[in-house]
Amino acid sequence: MKIGIIGGTGGMGEGFALRWCVNHDIILGSRDKQRAQSVAENHLSAIKNTNYADKITGSIKGDDNISVAKESELLILSIPYENIQSTCKDIENVINEDCIVVSPIVPMSRNQDGFYYIPFVDRKQSAGALVAENLSKCNKVISAFHTISEVKLKNIESSLDADTFICTDNKESLQILNNLVSEIDGLRSIYLGPISLSYQAEVMTPMILNASKQNKLKHPGIKLV
Ligand SMILES: NC(=O)c1ccc[n+]([C@@H]2O[C@H](COP(=O)([O-])OP(=O)(O)OC[C@H]3O[C@@H](n4cnc5c(N)ncnc54)[C@H](OP(=O)(O)O)[C@@H]3O)[C@@H](O)[C@H]2O)c1
Repeated sequence: MKIGIIGGTGGMGEGFALRWCVNHDIILGSRDKQRAQSVAENHLSAIKNTNYADKITGSIKGDDNISVAKESELLILSIPYENIQSTCKDIENVINEDCIVVSPIVPMSRNQDGFYYIPFVDRKQSAGALVAENLSKCNKVISAFHTISEVKLKNIESSLDADTFICTDNKESLQILNNLVSEIDGLRSIYLGPISLSYQAEVMTPMILNASKQNKLKHPGIKLV
């Protein structure tokens, strides 16, 4: 499958690329094509002389965000919450009709008390709902991966031993995402419901970060038991 990652030059982009290049063709997107290409080359050279390289049947390359959006069968929006509207405006007319769009975006900030969920404080929409509203022609928007630590995702040796909570209105694309989740060692997908419930998945991230900071926990995740 061709998996594009808008904002793929960031930490989450690196984790997704390294995990999924085993079976898929990954295209890292950036506002700057050259930056995307050089980040893609760096990831490939980092794993070149490791045992992991032997497992890879896919590829990693870089391109500008618009070209990535055009080419992808599944597109991850790995960008800050503040840039959802402008990015969706740039890509909405170029993405394929059948493209699945995935938002791992967490609207989060920090004050003197700790990390907090922006929509509850500033009366804004969840990231998932905002993506769905701004990509109204796409009926395959999925919200997922909010509670996964970038550090653990990038560490290809580590098993995540965690759940990821998933919201979508499109059950057909859910199976495709579940397959991708199962390709990440130790990660299990838990369906929460329609995209209107995305806030329930997103709000866990500031909670995890506060727990981590106050109790000196190293990159914790969440698992239902
Ligand atoms: N980091 C984590 O552990 C973690 C965990 C769960 C969920 N998340 C969520 O996943 C998403 C990606 O996380 P991240 O840590 O990889 O983010 P990041 O490093 O802060 O940003 C990712 C990429 O977004 C692009 N970007 C920055 N400003 C932009 C703008 N004004 N317009 C368009 N693109 C812009 C940049 O790419 P270019 O400059 O190359 O265009 C950047 O490399 C975020 O929404 C975050 O909330 C993160």
